[in-house]
Amino acid sequence: MDRGLLFVASMVMGCLAPGVSGNGHLSYANNTEVNITRTGCGLTKLCVETPEQCDPTGKTSCLFASIVTTAPSPPNGVDLSVELLGDSSGYIALGLTANETEGTSMVFICAQNRNGSFFFCSAQRNNLNNTISLTQRIVKNITGSVNGTFIKCKFMLPAVNATTRTSHVTTFVTFLAVGNVRNGMGIGDINIRLTNEPLNLADPTSNVAATTTTTAGSSALTSQAVMVLLSVLMYRLS
Ligand SMILES: *[C@@H]1O[C@H](CO)[C@@H](O)[C@H](O)[C@H]1NC(C)=O
Ligand SMILES: *[C@@H]1O[C@H](CO)[C@@H](O)[C@H](O)[C@H]1NC(C)=O
Ligand SMILES: *[C@@H]1O[C@H](CO)[C@@H](O)[C@H](O)[C@H]1NC(C)=O
Ligand SMILES: *[C@@H]1O[C@H](CO)[C@@H](O)[C@H](O)[C@H]1NC(C)=O
Ligand SMILES: *[C@@H]1O[C@H](CO)[C@@H](O)[C@H](O)[C@H]1NC(C)=O
Ligand SMILES: *[C@@H]1O[C@H](CO)[C@@H](O)[C@H](O)[C@H]1NC(C)=O
Ligand SMILES: *[C@@H]1O[C@H](CO)[C@@H](O)[C@H](O)[C@H]1NC(C)=O
Repeated sequence: MDRGLLFVASMVMGCLAPGVSGNGHLSYANNTEVNITRTGCGLTKLCVETPEQCDPTGKTSCLFASIVTTAPSPPNGVDLSVELLGDSSGYIALGLTANETEGTSMVFICAQNRNGSFFFCSAQRNNLNNTISLTQRIVKNITGSVNGTFIKCKFMLPAVNATTRTSHVTTFVTFLAVGNVRNGMGIGDINIRLTNEPLNLADPTSNVAATTTTTAGSSALTSQAVMVLLSVLMYRLS
Protein backbone atom coordinates (compact mmCIF):
# COMPACT_ATOMS: atom_id res chain seq x y z
CA MET A 1 0.00 0.00 0.00
CA ASP A 2 1.31 3.43 -0.88
CA ARG A 3 1.08 6.38 1.37
CA GLY A 4 2.47 9.69 0.28
CA LEU A 5 2.40 13.00 1.96
CA LEU A 6 3.58 16.55 1.79
CA PHE A 7 4.43 18.74 4.72
CA VAL A 8 5.22 22.39 4.41
CA ALA A 9 6.91 22.95 7.71
CA SER A 10 9.00 25.70 9.14
CA MET A 11 10.48 23.67 11.92
CA VAL A 12 10.75 19.97 12.48
CA MET A 13 11.09 19.12 16.13
CA GLY A 14 12.04 15.49 16.28
CA CYS A 15 9.61 13.61 14.05
CA LEU A 16 6.77 14.87 11.93
CA ALA A 17 3.82 12.76 10.85
CA PRO A 18 0.20 13.34 9.89
CA GLY A 19 -1.75 14.46 12.92
CA VAL A 20 1.30 15.25 15.02
CA SER A 21 1.48 18.96 14.34
CA GLY A 22 0.80 21.31 17.19
CA ASN A 23 -0.54 24.41 15.49
CA GLY A 24 -0.62 23.18 11.93
CA HIS A 25 -3.21 23.12 9.24
CA LEU A 26 -3.72 19.65 7.85
CA SER A 27 -5.36 18.64 4.62
CA TYR A 28 -5.39 15.56 2.42
CA ALA A 29 -5.40 14.98 -1.31
CA ASN A 30 -5.10 11.84 -3.39
CA ASN A 31 -2.42 10.63 -5.77
CA THR A 32 0.75 12.11 -4.41
CA GLU A 33 3.80 11.12 -6.33
CA VAL A 34 7.45 11.40 -5.40
CA ASN A 35 9.45 10.90 -8.57
CA ILE A 36 13.19 10.46 -8.19
CA THR A 37 15.48 9.54 -11.08
CA ARG A 38 19.15 9.81 -11.99
CA THR A 39 18.34 12.48 -14.52
CA GLY A 40 20.73 15.36 -13.91
CA CYS A 41 23.16 13.46 -11.67
CA GLY A 42 26.60 15.03 -12.07
CA LEU A 43 25.16 17.84 -14.15
CA THR A 44 22.48 19.67 -12.22
CA LYS A 45 22.45 17.66 -9.01
CA LEU A 46 25.03 15.99 -6.83
CA CYS A 47 24.23 12.30 -6.41
CA VAL A 48 25.48 9.76 -3.90
CA GLU A 49 24.36 6.16 -3.91
CA THR A 50 25.13 2.61 -3.00
CA PRO A 51 25.62 0.33 -4.85
CA GLU A 52 27.39 2.55 -7.36
CA GLN A 53 25.28 3.75 -10.27
CA CYS A 54 22.19 1.99 -8.93
CA ASP A 55 18.79 2.75 -10.37
CA PRO A 56 16.61 4.81 -8.01
CA THR A 57 13.35 4.01 -9.79
CA GLY A 58 12.74 0.95 -7.65
CA LYS A 59 13.62 -1.84 -10.06
CA THR A 60 16.69 -2.81 -8.06
CA SER A 61 17.80 -2.13 -4.53
CA CYS A 62 19.36 1.31 -4.28
CA LEU A 63 20.14 3.71 -1.46
CA PHE A 64 20.31 7.07 -3.18
CA ALA A 65 20.39 10.77 -2.44
CA SER A 66 20.66 13.83 -4.60
CA ILE A 67 21.39 17.36 -3.50
CA VAL A 68 20.87 20.65 -5.31
CA THR A 69 22.02 23.90 -3.78
CA THR A 70 20.02 27.02 -4.37
CA ALA A 71 20.13 30.62 -3.25
CA PRO A 72 23.78 30.59 -2.25
CA SER A 73 24.33 33.45 0.16
CA PRO A 74 27.76 33.06 1.72
CA PRO A 75 28.65 33.34 4.53
CA ASN A 76 25.15 32.34 5.56
CA GLY A 77 25.25 28.93 3.95
CA VAL A 78 23.08 27.62 1.13
CA ASP A 79 19.63 26.16 0.70
CA LEU A 80 19.66 22.47 -0.16
CA SER A 81 16.98 20.55 -2.03
CA VAL A 82 17.36 16.89 -1.19
CA GLU A 83 15.96 13.69 -2.69
CA LEU A 84 16.41 10.49 -0.73
CA LEU A 85 15.24 6.96 -1.35
CA GLY A 86 16.03 3.39 -0.43
CA ASP A 87 14.76 0.10 0.89
CA SER A 88 14.00 -0.23 4.56
CA SER A 89 11.24 -1.55 6.74
CA GLY A 90 12.29 1.20 9.18
CA TYR A 91 14.15 4.29 8.05
CA ILE A 92 16.62 5.63 5.54
CA ALA A 93 18.80 8.63 6.31
CA LEU A 94 21.11 11.22 4.84
CA GLY A 95 23.86 12.62 7.06
CA LEU A 96 25.85 15.80 6.61
CA THR A 97 28.88 16.59 8.71
CA ALA A 98 32.15 18.48 8.59
CA ASN A 99 34.15 15.57 9.94
CA GLU A 100 32.77 12.08 10.37
CA THR A 101 34.98 11.25 13.35
CA GLU A 102 34.40 14.30 15.52
CA GLY A 103 31.56 16.58 16.50
CA THR A 104 28.05 15.86 15.28
CA SER A 105 26.25 15.17 12.02
CA MET A 106 22.94 16.55 10.86
CA VAL A 107 20.78 13.56 10.01
CA PHE A 108 17.57 13.65 7.98
CA ILE A 109 15.38 10.61 8.30
CA CYS A 110 12.60 9.35 6.06
CA ALA A 111 10.79 6.50 7.72
CA GLN A 112 7.77 4.29 7.89
CA ASN A 113 5.99 3.07 10.94
CA ARG A 114 4.61 -0.44 11.29
CA ASN A 115 1.42 0.41 9.43
CA GLY A 116 3.36 1.69 6.44
CA SER A 117 2.80 5.40 7.00
CA PHE A 118 5.55 7.81 6.09
CA PHE A 119 7.11 10.13 8.64
CA PHE A 120 10.11 12.43 8.73
CA CYS A 121 12.59 13.12 11.51
CA SER A 122 15.40 15.56 12.10
CA ALA A 123 18.20 14.08 14.18
CA GLN A 124 21.79 14.46 15.20
CA ARG A 125 24.50 11.82 15.25
CA ASN A 126 27.24 11.99 17.80
CA ASN A 127 30.18 11.17 15.57
CA LEU A 128 32.32 9.84 18.42
CA ASN A 129 30.01 7.06 19.58
CA ASN A 130 27.52 6.76 16.67
CA THR A 131 24.50 7.51 18.85
CA ILE A 132 21.56 9.28 17.30
CA SER A 133 19.17 11.69 18.99
CA LEU A 134 16.23 13.70 17.70
CA THR A 135 16.73 17.40 17.31
CA GLN A 136 14.92 20.40 15.92
CA ARG A 137 15.77 21.98 12.64
CA ILE A 138 14.14 24.04 9.93
CA VAL A 139 13.09 21.72 7.13
CA LYS A 140 10.65 22.73 4.42
CA ASN A 141 8.48 21.12 1.78
CA ILE A 142 8.80 17.56 2.96
CA THR A 143 7.19 15.02 0.65
CA GLY A 144 7.37 11.30 1.10
CA SER A 145 5.83 8.00 0.16
CA VAL A 146 6.13 4.37 1.13
CA ASN A 147 5.50 1.27 -0.98
CA GLY A 148 6.38 -1.90 0.91
CA THR A 149 9.99 -1.35 1.96
CA PHE A 150 10.60 1.31 -0.69
CA ILE A 151 10.76 4.78 0.92
CA LYS A 152 11.07 7.97 -1.13
CA CYS A 153 11.19 11.55 0.05
CA LYS A 154 12.17 15.08 -0.85
CA PHE A 155 12.79 18.06 1.40
CA MET A 156 14.49 21.45 1.58
CA LEU A 157 17.06 22.63 4.10
CA PRO A 158 17.46 26.40 4.31
CA ALA A 159 20.74 28.10 5.21
CA VAL A 160 22.94 25.04 5.67
CA ASN A 161 26.46 25.84 6.76
CA ALA A 162 29.50 23.70 7.45
CA THR A 163 30.45 25.73 10.42
CA THR A 164 33.74 24.19 11.51
CA ARG A 165 37.20 24.36 10.06
CA THR A 166 36.32 23.27 6.54
CA SER A 167 37.66 25.55 3.90
CA HIS A 168 34.30 26.04 2.23
CA VAL A 169 30.88 26.45 3.85
CA THR A 170 29.29 24.09 1.35
CA THR A 171 31.79 21.26 1.77
CA PHE A 172 30.42 18.31 3.74
CA VAL A 173 31.11 14.68 4.34
CA THR A 174 27.86 12.93 3.39
CA PHE A 175 26.64 9.53 4.45
CA LEU A 176 23.70 7.27 3.69
CA ALA A 177 22.29 5.08 6.40
CA VAL A 178 19.42 2.80 7.37
CA GLY A 179 17.91 1.75 10.66
CA ASN A 180 14.94 0.31 12.48
CA VAL A 181 11.83 2.01 13.76
CA ARG A 182 10.48 0.87 17.11
CA ASN A 183 7.25 1.59 18.94
CA GLY A 184 5.55 3.87 16.45
CA MET A 185 8.09 6.55 15.62
CA GLY A 186 11.11 5.50 17.71
CA ILE A 187 14.36 5.82 15.79
CA GLY A 188 16.68 2.84 16.28
CA ASP A 189 20.44 2.65 15.91
CA ILE A 190 21.90 4.16 12.75
CA ASN A 191 23.78 1.86 10.36
CA ILE A 192 25.90 3.80 7.91
CA ARG A 193 26.04 2.12 4.49
CA LEU A 194 28.15 4.64 2.58
CA THR A 195 30.35 7.56 3.55
CA ASN A 196 31.69 9.92 0.91
CA GLU A 197 34.81 11.99 1.00
CA PRO A 198 34.13 15.70 1.61
CA LEU A 199 32.04 16.99 -1.30
CA ASN A 200 31.29 20.54 -2.32
CA LEU A 201 27.51 20.35 -2.35
CA ALA A 202 27.32 23.44 -4.52
CA ASP A 203 29.15 21.62 -7.32
CA PRO A 204 27.06 18.84 -8.92
CA THR A 205 30.20 17.40 -10.50
CA SER A 206 32.08 17.01 -7.23
CA ASN A 207 31.09 13.35 -6.93
CA VAL A 208 32.42 12.42 -10.34
CA ALA A 209 31.91 8.70 -9.82
CA ALA A 210 28.18 9.24 -10.07
CA THR A 211 27.99 11.24 -13.26
CA THR A 212 26.36 8.76 -15.62
CA THR A 213 22.96 10.03 -16.52
CA THR A 214 20.09 7.88 -17.58
CA THR A 215 16.47 8.66 -18.00
CA ALA A 216 14.05 6.27 -16.50
CA GLY A 217 10.42 7.03 -15.85
CA SER A 218 9.07 6.47 -12.42
CA SER A 219 5.97 4.40 -12.12
CA ALA A 220 3.00 6.40 -11.07
CA LEU A 221 1.71 6.03 -7.58
CA THR A 222 -1.95 5.26 -7.75
CA SER A 223 -4.46 3.46 -5.58
CA GLN A 224 -4.13 4.32 -1.95
CA ALA A 225 -1.76 7.24 -2.27
CA VAL A 226 -2.59 9.90 0.21
CA MET A 227 -1.22 13.39 0.34
CA VAL A 228 -1.10 15.37 3.48
CA LEU A 229 -0.50 19.07 3.38
CA LEU A 230 0.55 20.35 6.72
CA SER A 231 1.49 23.92 7.41
CA VAL A 232 3.26 24.19 10.69
CA LEU A 233 3.46 27.61 12.19
CA MET A 234 6.89 29.11 12.56
CA TYR A 235 8.56 28.32 15.83
CA ARG A 236 11.44 30.31 17.10
CA LEU A 237 14.74 28.59 17.60
CA SER A 238 15.43 28.49 21.28
C1 LIG B 1 28.75 29.99 8.26
O1 LIG B 1 30.11 29.63 8.44
C2 LIG B 1 31.00 30.74 8.26
C3 LIG B 1 32.40 30.20 8.36
O2 LIG B 1 32.58 29.44 9.53
C4 LIG B 1 30.69 31.79 9.32
O3 LIG B 1 31.53 32.90 9.11
C5 LIG B 1 29.25 32.21 9.21
O4 LIG B 1 28.92 33.11 10.24
C6 LIG B 1 28.33 31.01 9.30
N1 LIG B 1 26.96 31.41 9.09
C7 LIG B 1 25.97 30.98 9.86
C8 LIG B 1 24.62 31.48 9.48
O5 LIG B 1 26.14 30.20 10.77
C1 LIG C 1 38.64 14.78 11.55
O1 LIG C 1 38.80 14.64 12.93
C2 LIG C 1 39.89 13.79 13.28
C3 LIG C 1 39.83 13.55 14.76
O2 LIG C 1 39.67 14.73 15.47
C4 LIG C 1 41.17 14.44 12.81
O3 LIG C 1 42.26 13.60 13.10
C5 LIG C 1 41.10 14.65 11.30
O4 LIG C 1 42.23 15.36 10.86
C6 LIG C 1 39.85 15.44 10.93
N1 LIG C 1 39.72 15.48 9.50
C7 LIG C 1 39.57 16.62 8.83
C8 LIG C 1 39.40 16.49 7.35
O5 LIG C 1 39.52 17.70 9.39
C1 LIG D 1 27.67 9.40 23.33
O1 LIG D 1 28.34 10.62 23.58
C2 LIG D 1 27.50 11.63 24.11
C3 LIG D 1 28.30 12.90 24.21
O2 LIG D 1 29.60 12.68 24.60
C4 LIG D 1 26.97 11.20 25.47
O3 LIG D 1 26.10 12.17 25.98
C5 LIG D 1 26.20 9.89 25.29
O4 LIG D 1 25.79 9.43 26.57
C6 LIG D 1 27.10 8.86 24.65
N1 LIG D 1 26.27 7.69 24.39
C7 LIG D 1 26.75 6.46 24.59
C8 LIG D 1 25.81 5.34 24.33
O5 LIG D 1 27.90 6.25 24.96
C1 LIG E 1 7.59 24.75 -1.18
O1 LIG E 1 6.20 24.76 -0.94
C2 LIG E 1 5.60 26.01 -1.15
C3 LIG E 1 4.15 25.92 -0.73
O2 LIG E 1 3.52 24.82 -1.33
C4 LIG E 1 5.75 26.40 -2.62
O3 LIG E 1 5.21 27.68 -2.85
C5 LIG E 1 7.24 26.42 -2.96
O4 LIG E 1 7.41 26.67 -4.34
C6 LIG E 1 7.88 25.11 -2.63
N1 LIG E 1 9.30 25.20 -2.86
C7 LIG E 1 9.97 24.28 -3.52
C8 LIG E 1 11.40 24.54 -3.72
O5 LIG E 1 9.43 23.26 -3.94
C1 LIG F 1 -0.27 4.52 11.64
O1 LIG F 1 0.24 4.49 12.95
C2 LIG F 1 0.41 5.75 13.54
C3 LIG F 1 1.00 5.56 14.93
O2 LIG F 1 1.94 4.55 14.95
C4 LIG F 1 -0.91 6.48 13.62
O3 LIG F 1 -0.68 7.78 14.13
C5 LIG F 1 -1.50 6.61 12.24
O4 LIG F 1 -2.78 7.20 12.33
C6 LIG F 1 -1.62 5.25 11.60
N1 LIG F 1 -2.07 5.45 10.22
C7 LIG F 1 -2.94 4.64 9.64
C8 LIG F 1 -3.29 5.00 8.23
O5 LIG F 1 -3.38 3.69 10.20
C1 LIG G 1 5.83 11.45 -11.84
O1 LIG G 1 6.09 10.69 -13.00
C2 LIG G 1 4.91 10.36 -13.71
C3 LIG G 1 5.29 9.39 -14.81
O2 LIG G 1 6.50 9.75 -15.40
C4 LIG G 1 4.29 11.66 -14.23
O3 LIG G 1 3.12 11.37 -14.94
C5 LIG G 1 3.96 12.56 -13.05
O4 LIG G 1 3.46 13.79 -13.50
C6 LIG G 1 5.17 12.80 -12.19
N1 LIG G 1 4.76 13.49 -10.99
C7 LIG G 1 5.43 14.49 -10.47
C8 LIG G 1 4.88 15.07 -9.20
O5 LIG G 1 6.46 14.92 -10.97
C1 LIG H 1 4.75 -0.89 -5.32
O1 LIG H 1 5.75 -1.88 -5.42
C2 LIG H 1 5.32 -3.00 -6.19
C3 LIG H 1 6.39 -4.07 -6.09
O2 LIG H 1 7.61 -3.58 -5.71
C4 LIG H 1 5.08 -2.56 -7.61
O3 LIG H 1 4.69 -3.67 -8.40
C5 LIG H 1 3.99 -1.51 -7.61
O4 LIG H 1 3.82 -1.01 -8.92
C6 LIG H 1 4.36 -0.38 -6.69
N1 LIG H 1 3.22 0.52 -6.59
C7 LIG H 1 3.27 1.75 -6.99
C8 LIG H 1 1.99 2.49 -6.88
O5 LIG H 1 4.30 2.26 -7.41
